[in-house]
Amino acid sequence: MPNAAIIGTGFYVPERVIKNADLTKLMDTSDEWIRERSGIEERRWITEGTSSNDLALKASFMAIEDAGIKPDDIDFIIYSTLNPDHQFPGNGPFLQESLGIGTIGAMDIRNQCTGFVYGLAAAHGFILTGVAKCVLVVGSEIHSTGLDISTRGRDLAVLFGDGAGAAIVRTTEEDRGIIASSLHCQGEFARELWCEIPTAKIQGRWTEEMIAEGRHFPYMNGRNVFKHATRRFCEAINEVLIMGKVSKDEIALVIPHQANQRITDMVTRRMGLPTERVYSNIHRYGNTTAASIPIALSEAVREGKIQRGDLLVTVAFGSGFTWGANLIRW
Ligand code: ACO
Repeated sequence: MPNAAIIGTGFYVPERVIKNADLTKLMDTSDEWIRERSGIEERRWITEGTSSNDLALKASFMAIEDAGIKPDDIDFIIYSTLNPDHQFPGNGPFLQESLGIGTIGAMDIRNQCTGFVYGLAAAHGFILTGVAKCVLVVGSEIHSTGLDISTRGRDLAVLFGDGAGAAIVRTTEEDRGIIASSLHCQGEFARELWCEIPTAKIQGRWTEEMIAEGRHFPYMNGRNVFKHATRRFCEAINEVLIMGKVSKDEIALVIPHQANQRITDMVTRRMGLPTERVYSNIHRYGNTTAASIPIALSEAVREGKIQRGDLLVTVAFGSGFTWGANLIRW
């Protein structure tokens, strides 16, 4: 049975840095409030005209170079995003066109913050079943153009950033790669963190009244998200540890979705993990949903925090509610 190993990573964030102080000019908020509640100091926002695919392409080229392969070696694209450039088709086809790689399969995963974890699990399955041999898994998000950047939307607007990350997952005979994944969803909480419109339920997809009420902007029940996220992050980590028959002490690094530093801190405490074994870069990029794990993974590799043979856990929770984790031997 072959294994599915991550052989290259890459990321890209837009150059425009938005500091907390910049947001205070746009809404009633403060640097202190944002840092205290989320740990975020700055995030990157695109300049108008940049697409999610533009970010994904840069991250993908970096991952391709890191893996030492050619674009033509890729035989499947998995594109995770909650912000596709268009209603349809998904972003996978646009990335395939930009990379100029024939007629290989491409699909989008719309699982929000958990998208990259689902993407790695799908890549693993495709490789084990012979559907693909070399999968490009991307997480790319542009939030800034879809946020309510005013006092009305401040609870969400201060949290989110734009960016992309990518990984090349390739078949290998070596004793390493993705070992196990746990994937979950609880649809009864779908409306606790969502963007209601455009909706196919309505002729024209929205009404003037809905726009006036701001229902085209994301909505979050922050307290409920906090409560469920802190519980589900821990459960997902424990599940893949059990599946892989390893203990938490054997994990070199946990790479959590960068949701909010307070969520990460509580999970770290509840799991009894040392803080240096839980990666964080939310202070620089904010929450980039599906892009946050591949960006963090890419940075952790380049900072020398992951060595060949190490055990890693990637873990996420987000809209749906969805949550899950992957156990990986590097
Ligand atoms: N700046 C200043 N004040 C703000 C801001 C802001 N950006 N946003 C909200 N407030 C105000 C609210 O209007 C409210 O004011 P009020 O009391 O006068 O009505 C007050 O701050 C609420 O603040 P808290 O007392 O901290 O409220 P609470 O304890 O409910 O915490 C928070 C709110 C921070 C959102 C908390 O619920 C939380 O951290 N939730 C997690 C949400 C999260 O991080 N999601 C990440 C995205 S989803 C994901 O990736 C999984």
